[in-house]
Amino acid sequence: MRNILITGGAGFIGSHVVRLFVKKYSDYHIINLDALTYAGNLENLRDIENRLNYTFIKGDICNYDLVKNIFQEYKIEAVIHLAAESHVDRSIKDPFSFAKTNILGTLSLLQAAKNYWKSNLNNKLFYHISTDEVYGTLGNSGFFTENTAYDPHSPYSASKASSDHFVRAFYDTYNLPIIVSNCSNNYGSYQFPEKLIPLFINNICNNKPLPVYGNGENVRDWLYVEDHAKAIDLIFHKGKIGDTYAIGGCNEWRNIDLVKVLIKTVDKLLGRTEGTSEKLITFIKDRAGHDYRYAIDATKLKDELGWKPSLQFEEGIEKTVQWYLKNRDWVDNVTSGDYLNYYKEMYK
Ligand code: NAD
Ligand code: DAU
Repeated sequence: MRNILITGGAGFIGSHVVRLFVKKYSDYHIINLDALTYAGNLENLRDIENRLNYTFIKGDICNYDLVKNIFQEYKIEAVIHLAAESHVDRSIKDPFSFAKTNILGTLSLLQAAKNYWKSNLNNKLFYHISTDEVYGTLGNSGFFTENTAYDPHSPYSASKASSDHFVRAFYDTYNLPIIVSNCSNNYGSYQFPEKLIPLFINNICNNKPLPVYGNGENVRDWLYVEDHAKAIDLIFHKGKIGDTYAIGGCNEWRNIDLVKVLIKTVDKLLGRTEGTSEKLITFIKDRAGHDYRYAIDATKLKDELGWKPSLQFEEGIEKTVQWYLKNRDWVDNVTSGDYLNYYKEMYK
């Protein structure tokens, strides 16, 4: 058995990574450490929770004693680190919790790995999952690559940038075997409906306003979450120690155009007349420090490891909308309670 610690495995991307690894590698023991914040949900992993090669631990990555004990008790040989505070708008309201989890939490894991692996670094790996937001913003042309200079603008991206620097500092200073990947926007099932795509699908279903920030012309590069999980699998097994990999969908959309695709898809699947929900589009005050455009050049990952996205966007978005329509219970569950206060506060 190879013992792998995955952090944040009850969240959106983490649950897809845990599912992929648990199902594909019966000779790996996957230990999922997650604090179950508002964004973490064990419902995301119901289908695999009883597998023999899977263990869930509820806990905070900032708790160094807990993390240290997990390394010892489960003889951890590799880490895939996804746990984070991940929503830009929340980071604008509460930057402290982002610094705590994303920076200090990452440091706590790095220290535990370094101290536990110190006598033998063979076949060990600390794989840190990061974001393209650390690179800041692009104008109308150009792409982020592994060599783009860091220029974060939000408290979220500043905290992720800082965590990336700590990870690389542990490689340079202590030879800790690390890999970092920086990915563009993900979409798919189990994403918390505070992020653009699930939020808007839910609002279209419920005939609620669609709050588009600014003029809706900001651009994002969207990748189907299962393709991100496959890239993580590939990089985890074949990536070069010390390297960085940029992951992207090669799939840029202006927000306003994406919103129209969502409206068309939801209206079609609900049997509404085409365009019915366009009236819900509501332009609101822009996000502070709103990055204009993200776009990734994933040539290195394609050329060196042979990865490419498997799904066309139209197919991915239709699958995604279908999932949210079929899983109303999941959506209702996560949008009750605290979510209602968050929504009122954010969009008042
Ligand atoms: P998410 O918010 O859906 O999930 C985060 C998970 O981390 C949740 O399960 C939460 O309970 C857990 N968590 C939070 N704080 C914790 C703590 N202190 N201790 C233990 N667990 C804690 O996030 P996501 O969208 O799945 O993103 C996962 C990772 O991928 C993050 O590191 C994020 O920066 C990165 N990323 C996300 C995207 C994207 O589009 N969503 C793109 C690129 C990179
Ligand atoms: O690029 C990778 C990043 O993508 C990840 O690191 C983050 O964790 C993830 O949240 C995502 O960040 P964004 O800020 O790009 O995603 P979000 O879904 O919040 O917003 C996408 C775009 O839509 C962005 O330009 C802001 C806009 N938007 C978002 C919301 C929630 C709106 O216009 N209205 C909204 O209500």
